Amino acid sequence: MSNFHEFFRVGRRSLPVLLLAFSVLQAEEKRPEQLRRIAFGSCATEHRPQPIWDSVVRQKPDLFLFIGDNIYADTEDMDVMKAKYAQLGSQPGYQKLLRTCPVLATWDDHDYGVNDGGEWYPKKAESQQLMLDFFGVPKESPRRQRPGVYGSYVFGPPSKRVQVILLDTRYFKSRPVKDSRSPEEKKQLNLVGWYIANTDPKGTILGENQWKWLKAQLREPAEVRILASSIQVVADEKGMESWGNFPHERKRLYDLIGTTGAKGVLFISGDVHFSEISKTDQGPYPLYDFTSSSLTDPEKEWAAAVNHYRVSAVAFAQPTFGLIQIDWDQPTPAITLQAYGLQGKVAFEKHICLDELPAK
Ligand SMILES: [Fe+2]
Repeated sequence: MSNFHEFFRVGRRSLPVLLLAFSVLQAEEKRPEQLRRIAFGSCATEHRPQPIWDSVVRQKPDLFLFIGDNIYADTEDMDVMKAKYAQLGSQPGYQKLLRTCPVLATWDDHDYGVNDGGEWYPKKAESQQLMLDFFGVPKESPRRQRPGVYGSYVFGPPSKRVQVILLDTRYFKSRPVKDSRSPEEKKQLNLVGWYIANTDPKGTILGENQWKWLKAQLREPAEVRILASSIQVVADEKGMESWGNFPHERKRLYDLIGTTGAKGVLFISGDVHFSEISKTDQGPYPLYDFTSSSLTDPEKEWAAAVNHYRVSAVAFAQPTFGLIQIDWDQPTPAITLQAYGLQGKVAFEKHICLDELPAK
């Protein structure tokens, strides 16, 4: 809780933009003491209408997690990037969200600054500060003091704690390996992406400092841990960017959850312009990856690509956000994952008992 209090207390003093100051004031008044309803989403085109926010606000979330491609900046010009954040900030629906609940964010490639980008992007330090400015992260936050936007927050009293871990999958990421197969061959295999696995042991997604930090976070006490990765963690077959492009990094992540004794981990991800839930048995307990994308621009063709890990009834390709509900009142807390479309329509849902995700 303490760093969350600090986040808003300091943020209220230091924010230069009236709109953000207003949102932080609201967040102080409505600071969630316990999380029961966590909404999240990704991939929002800033210059297009964003009617999905009405649907988000209707669900009365305690917290919203904006987990990447929050704008489509795609630039090395920081004035252009700033103007695009301003466009998002001026969306009436997004302003309603800011009056409803706090927003925490990480980024993906387009808001980082370059499509499929990684450690080679030359403006990453500047882009980091702009992103943290927009989301009201205080100047004193550890997220300002180190390279990368990763951060961790714990909400709720003992026995009902939710830890939100926001990973940075861009700042340190190595170059992916291009898939040289022909379009015809890929079509036959139902692949839509451009990459194959990078098996160079030096290839990384998180970078060593973030790995060390993550290990320490996973040792913090919490009942539920929402681990936000901009790119998909579990689904790995369609050739788009994913943790599967760096198999040794993903194995390290699964192993780390086991060795730290971190119970209650649930991955959330975005990026792919459709929503689905994937599940793997390669971790210490069943690991679910709830992907929600896009808030504005779905891609039916990508939703139709192969994913043998999918456990949701469908892959949903309409404007969407995800909702995680935690029922703390059951003898064993229950988690419900739901993908929502416009007008509050539920596209798919999945129920998990928290005791399915125990420490080993
Ligand atoms: Fe992306």
